[in-house]
Formats: sequence, C-alpha cells, structure tokens
Amino acid sequence: MTQEVTPQAAPSTRATDADSATLANLLQETRSFAPSDEFSGQANAQASLYDDADGDRLGFWADQARKHVTWNKDFTEVLDWSNAPVARWFADGTLNAAYNAVDRHVKNGLGDRVAFHFEGEPGDSRSITYAELQLEVCRAANALAALRITTGDRVIIYAPMLIESVIAMLACARIGAPHSVVFGGFSAEALRSRIEDAGAKLVITADGGYRRGAPAALKPAVDEALSALDAAGTNPVERTLVIRRTGQDVAWVDGRDIWWHDALAPADVRHEPVWVEAEHPLFILYTSGTTGKPKGILHTTGGYLVQTAHTHHNVFDLKADTDVYWCTADIGWVTGHSYVVYGPMLGGATQVIYEGTPDSPHRGRWWEIVEKYGVSILYTAPTAIRTFMKWGDDIPSQFDLSSLRLLGSVGEPINPEAWMWYRKVIGANLTPIVDTWWQTETGAIMISPLPGVTATKPGSAQVPMPGTSIDVIDEEARSVPNGSGGYLVIKEPWPSMLRGIWGDLERFKQTYWSRFPGMYFAGDGAKRDDDGDIWLLGRVDDVMNVSGHRLSTTEIESSLVAHDSVAEAAVVGATDETTGQAVVAFVILRQEFADQAAQGDKARQIEESLRSHVSKQIGPIAKPRQILLVPELPKTRSGKIMRRLLRDVAEHRNVGDSTTLADSSVMDLIASRVK
Ligand code: PRX
Repeated sequence: MTQEVTPQAAPSTRATDADSATLANLLQETRSFAPSDEFSGQANAQASLYDDADGDRLGFWADQARKHVTWNKDFTEVLDWSNAPVARWFADGTLNAAYNAVDRHVKNGLGDRVAFHFEGEPGDSRSITYAELQLEVCRAANALAALRITTGDRVIIYAPMLIESVIAMLACARIGAPHSVVFGGFSAEALRSRIEDAGAKLVITADGGYRRGAPAALKPAVDEALSALDAAGTNPVERTLVIRRTGQDVAWVDGRDIWWHDALAPADVRHEPVWVEAEHPLFILYTSGTTGKPKGILHTTGGYLVQTAHTHHNVFDLKADTDVYWCTADIGWVTGHSYVVYGPMLGGATQVIYEGTPDSPHRGRWWEIVEKYGVSILYTAPTAIRTFMKWGDDIPSQFDLSSLRLLGSVGEPINPEAWMWYRKVIGANLTPIVDTWWQTETGAIMISPLPGVTATKPGSAQVPMPGTSIDVIDEEARSVPNGSGGYLVIKEPWPSMLRGIWGDLERFKQTYWSRFPGMYFAGDGAKRDDDGDIWLLGRVDDVMNVSGHRLSTTEIESSLVAHDSVAEAAVVGATDETTGQAVVAFVILRQEFADQAAQGDKARQIEESLRSHVSKQIGPIAKPRQILLVPELPKTRSGKIMRRLLRDVAEHRNVGDSTTLADSSVMDLIASRVK
C-alpha cells in the first residue's frame, strides 16, 4: 500500500503566507482577551476541569459520561485499549442516542422547549418542540421498521438542511441503524460509491432544496446512482424515502420509492428505543484522505455522545433555558453531526437551522436570522467570516446582533484579522471567540479555549481540551519546545475517537497510526508559541481545505485523468483569500486534444469541460478554480510529482529549489505557459 502521509515541507513553514507576517506580530505582542465579567465565574467550564482530568483521566471521562449521558445500563469499565488502535469505551454500558437527544428532555418536563427553529431559504419558517420531535422521531422509527430496516442496517441520508433530515438521523439512531449522511452538494457518482461502500439498504432523500433563490433537485442524483449500481449488479438499496420539500416533479420507481410523509402517516407515535451497547455503530461519515477513495469514518455510540455533549456544554457554555444556538454547518459534515444534532441536542439546546446560502435573497440574511431568533451562540467557519468581511461592515451593522454572547470558529485556521473582525463587528468587541480544532476522525472538539477560563488569542486554537493528550512533535516523535513547529499528534485514546475505517482495518492502522507508532497522527502541522499555546498551520499531507471542506488532491487528479482528453494531472491547494485554499489543476492533454487546444479558444472550452467533469464526478466543491494546460509536470528522478513547485507557480511565487527534478528545465516551460 502506498505511504498515506507524505509531509512535504516542515510544517512550521506552511502557515498561510499572507498571514504569517501579521501572525508573527501578534505573537510578539501576545495580545489576548481575558474573560469578561459576564463569563468569569459564571461559565459552565471551570479551570478545575483540567486538574480533574490530569489527576485521573479515566475517572474524569467516567464522570463526564454519567453527567451528560443517560445510560440504560451503567458501564463498569471505562476504557479497553487492549486491542489498540481500536478503542472500546464504556463498553458494557447500554444506551440510545435518540433517547438521550430527545426523550429524556421530554421526560424531564422540557417537552415544550423549542428544539429547532427552521428557516427556509424562501422565507418559510417552522419551529418544533422537543415533545413534537419525540413524536416525529418515533413515527419515523416505526416507519423504518415497517420497511424492514433493523438494528445494524446502514441508511444513507442525502437531504437538505431540514428538520426532517434531523428526524431521519435520530430515527436511525433510535433503531440502531447506522446512518451515513452524504452532503447534498456531492454528485451522483460520489453518492453511488458511498452507497456501495456502506452497503446501505435504504436511502432517505428529498425532491430537492432551495439554494441561491431557486429549487435545486436532489432525487435525480439518487436515481442516477441507483441505476449505475443496478447496471453493475451491486445495488444494496431496497427502498428510497423521499421528503417533499420543493414540490418539483420527480421520476418515480414504483415499488422502490416512497414519500416520507406517506410512510410516516400511518406509523405509531410510540416507539421503544433499541438499547444498544456503547460500541454499537452510530454512524459512518465519508471524508477525503490522501488517496483517491474516500474513507468511511466509523463512530460508535457511547464515547461519541459523551465527548460531543461534554465539549458542547463547556466550549459553547450552553445555558439551555435561555440560549439560542446556531451552528451554520450542514448535517452532511461532521460539524453538523456533532454540533447540530448530537452535542447540542443532548444538552437540550434550542437551535436555529437555515436551509440556504448567506446571500439569499440579500447579504444580510444571516444577521437577519440572528436578530429574528435572538441567537446568542454562533458557530461557523473562517471562510464565511472572510466573505462577510469582504462584503463590508455596513451589512451586519444594519441588524441588532446584541443577543450574541459567544462566537465559535471551525474547519480551518482562522487568520488573526478575520478573528479580530469577527469579535469586533459581530461580537461588539465583547464576545469570547472559541477557535475549535478537531476532525471528522476525532468526533468532537479536541483543542479550544474554554470561555470564562482561557484568555483568548486571535488566530490560535490554544489549549487541548481537558482529558485529551495532544502534543506537537518533530520527525523523531520528540515534543517540540515552545516557539517551535512540528506535527500534531494525539497520544492517548479519547472517547469520541473514530473506531476505524468502514470495512478496512488495515487502512485505518496505516493512515493514522503508522507515521508515529503508538500515536494518532492528525495530518496537521502545528506550532507552540512562547506560552505553549497551539497554532494550527494546515495540512502536511495531500489533503486540501477549501472553505473548510476536506478535499483530496489524489481524488481530483483521478477524476481528471478519467476524462478522455487528459494524459496526466497534478492538483494543488493554492492559498485563497476567501476560501483558505483553492483547487488549482495542472493538466497535460493527450496529443490530439493538445493540438486542438493550440487553436483559438478551444483551450478554454477544454478547461471548462474539465471543470464541469470534476464537478459531476465529485461535486461542485471540488471544481478547480483554475486549470492550467501544461506540456510537462515537475517530477523527481523516482517519478514523484513535486507539488511544492506547482504550488509556487499557482501562488505566483518564484519557484523554490528544483534541483531534485529529473529535468530542471520543466519549471521554465510550465512558468512560460502559465504567464
Ligand atoms: O486541517 C484541520 C482543519 O480541518 C481538518 C479536519 O477536517 P474535517 O474532518 O472535514 O472536519 C472539519 C470540522 C471539524 C483538520 O485536520 N481544521 C479543523 N478545525 C480547524 C482546522 N484547522 C485549523 N483550525 C481549526 N480550528
């Protein structure tokens, strides 16, 4: 198997270049914001959490498990690490995720509390209480059972940000059927490969959803994916359930397709949750790795719920009876799983979910929503913040944002300027900002300031969460001293850690545990500042981060070379002011196409068809920002493409050291074509 992790440069040199000067200044000034009076002493998190966890790590997690989760049968053993790197947490305990997210709040007399305020893009809205949600989740669980979906069966959910989509996830959890949510922006082909890999028996989808002021279809992608699977004779899907959202016409396969509302209407509103063991799979979520094939990250029930609930309580300081919490992530990503569905719901939060884009129908839409619902906690991505910065302060300033008391950031490094803007313009110079580092694989937040405890620093995620064992190490696995950079690793198991890659234990071991034996290697570079605070510096492997979404260079390259016109392709993530990184592809055309490209504007047509090809194969998020048709690619004598040099070209820098190239004239040739 190929080496999964190939650090390309010392991570300390990989800080987003545009920001490094500012970052250095800020580091020198060590500017930080002490907790305001509102938080000091009043916050959920107390400094003693660190001492408790340091004193007795497993005892700490056992306490968190009993504090945040209701067990049907209590556990006797906290951690079994004898089969490392596959952990077992709280293994002999039994519980149900949907019961913890919904029923127990109703049982505790909180049934009338709003669970979700849904805001549709066209302006329709709807609120649902925990008691109403309980009835709907039970009904959906019974409907799934009537379709003969049972504990252990996999269900794909490919749907917009709707209350029904959350109900679908919880209904799966209620019967112990692991869900695998596929982001609605992924293509039919991406959906097909995930359905096949997960061996899903059921797909839950919608006719479509509203995006950028118009209905966007979803069901045709499901039809296409299932037809392809039928043709290959590998279709595991028996039924599809279709949520009606837009009222668009949809093609219908009788006997296979059923309307969600028709399936739920006759179903009973009472349902006994299936009490599963703590290590029962809760979900599979596919994410890009360094190879072409997405990885099905497996999370189980007990440990995942414990850590998402604990982190949500402490990092977001949720006061469930007064706060209105809004995490802008889609449920198709891990942030939507951990910090829309499971973490906040276990805490009994009142949340906002929004279906559409931030500029529909106007660029103040998010701030209008904050004002409308009195949102007090907002959790979003740096890309969004930078976009709002670009649109100008006068847009948010037209709305009353005084309800906001805490802001969060996730998904990519937040540059200090964006951090400062977020605090100043959105947070009235008062709110703490929690910059939270974590991954699909970690399941829950691993590095973050704790509001009320940590003096926050613009641009740094700062402190490992209590009970986690995080380090920055050098090539020889030695901890780096303060002021130095290295690789981010996790040295001890944590409750919400991934339990594997679906169906591929070897790949799991190879990907995460082989680079530094006995340690989980996150794939990120990081630096400790003079205070010991951690600054994330971006990926050190062939994974890109575009608008906070993970994309694999290899996956996009494979997609490009699958196109008739392409002989070879190399993809890099180039720094982008708004999206963090952007996809730039260097493509060598096959001779006949290269000849055509040499004529007139044919080259532009080929570039355009390649861009839409990638969009169709993977999804619009993977579409290259730029395609550069080149005659050669820079390779070492052993044939490895030197992406570092291509990144220099894509970022308009002088090309760095190219002495290891087999043919050193190649870079001149490329540079001459690019100008
Ligand atoms: O590179 C890190 C970056 O996002 C990667 C994880 O991506 P994903 O699994 O899609 O999960 C995103 C949401 C949790 C990480 O390896 N990343 C995430 N949060 C941060 C970050 N980089 C810097 N700072 C963060 N706060």
